[in-house]
Amino acid sequence: MVAHHNPVYPVRWDRENQCVMLIDQTRLPAEYTTIAIRNSTEMAQAIKTMIVRGAPAIGVAAAYGMALGAREIKVGNTTEFLAQLEAIAASLRQTRPTAVNLFWAIERMLKTAGDPSASVAEIQTQLLQTAQEIQAEDLQTCQAIGKHGAKVLPETPERLNLLTHCNAGALATAGYGTALGVVRSAWEQGRLNRVYADETRPRLQGAKLTAWECVQEGIPVTVITDNMAAHCMQQGMIHAVVVGADRISANGDTANKIGTYSVALAAKAHNIPFYVAAPLSTVDFKLAHGDEIPIEERDSTEVAQVGDTRITPEGVEYYNPAFDVTPAELIAAIITEKGAVTPEELITLGSEVRGRN
Ligand code: MRU
Repeated sequence: MVAHHNPVYPVRWDRENQCVMLIDQTRLPAEYTTIAIRNSTEMAQAIKTMIVRGAPAIGVAAAYGMALGAREIKVGNTTEFLAQLEAIAASLRQTRPTAVNLFWAIERMLKTAGDPSASVAEIQTQLLQTAQEIQAEDLQTCQAIGKHGAKVLPETPERLNLLTHCNAGALATAGYGTALGVVRSAWEQGRLNRVYADETRPRLQGAKLTAWECVQEGIPVTVITDNMAAHCMQQGMIHAVVVGADRISANGDTANKIGTYSVALAAKAHNIPFYVAAPLSTVDFKLAHGDEIPIEERDSTEVAQVGDTRITPEGVEYYNPAFDVTPAELIAAIITEKGAVTPEELITLGSEVRGRN
């Protein structure tokens, strides 16, 4: 029997205990456990060790980390309070470099704290409210992405087989998901046949997390190893690819989980549309091109081991970039909460949205 946890909220504010509950994503799917986070140091550690992961989810988590940290500051003077809050922001910024949502959420929290007319106690309350707003907005954003995404998927005589890489699902966001939001939306409309989930070495987010989420929802899912994706495309098994993003530069180049680029190349070779689903908070309009996106390198043990088992001989070197950049020309559309656009149209959409706000 499969125990169902539906809907899935990876980050939850526990009002009674005044702490944040995170689903421990390092233990799924073997165990569904939650972990209480009581201060900003614990939150920074949880982001670093990937208890919580996925671009929008770490943005939400960092926002709560700021709110928790603010409550620990025991000074009445606003200037001193803001200096200490800035130090908390700096430690949260050190956790993971690639997903821009983390930095975006921290900046938004600092802006909230910068209200010159507010007392320390008022700022502490406002910070918790802003973290809750960021979370609620992300959920709505993902639902909008899902709706827009379902509209751009190709019309096919049979129901769609969609391939995804890594996990861009409810677990990676406030809930619902970006790429998996599009999948969910297509499933709700009866247009989906099945999801092909790349296992996503080295951390296996596809095999572990995407597969788990699909099981929770009753969505048919086939797990493949990463090196099978091109073969599946060649066999005519895939109608479209949908992935998430960690940071998109202004021209549409997209950093996402390592291996995304090779999936995009294979999709291009087989004339299969490749879509990126992401909130506008993932677009870093300050960066002109993808080569400016910082790429996280993680510990070599992730490559040297499968789980806890060492697979390589002594005496070898390792390279473990956690993300790669897919050039804009390989991307058919970027699906945002404001609609799907081509990479070239992204700048115009961004300035329209900022103009309206
Ligand atoms: O290293 P991770 O697991 O945090 O990487 C996650 C991804 O690459 C996701 O595809 C991306 O964050 C989009 S999540 C909606």
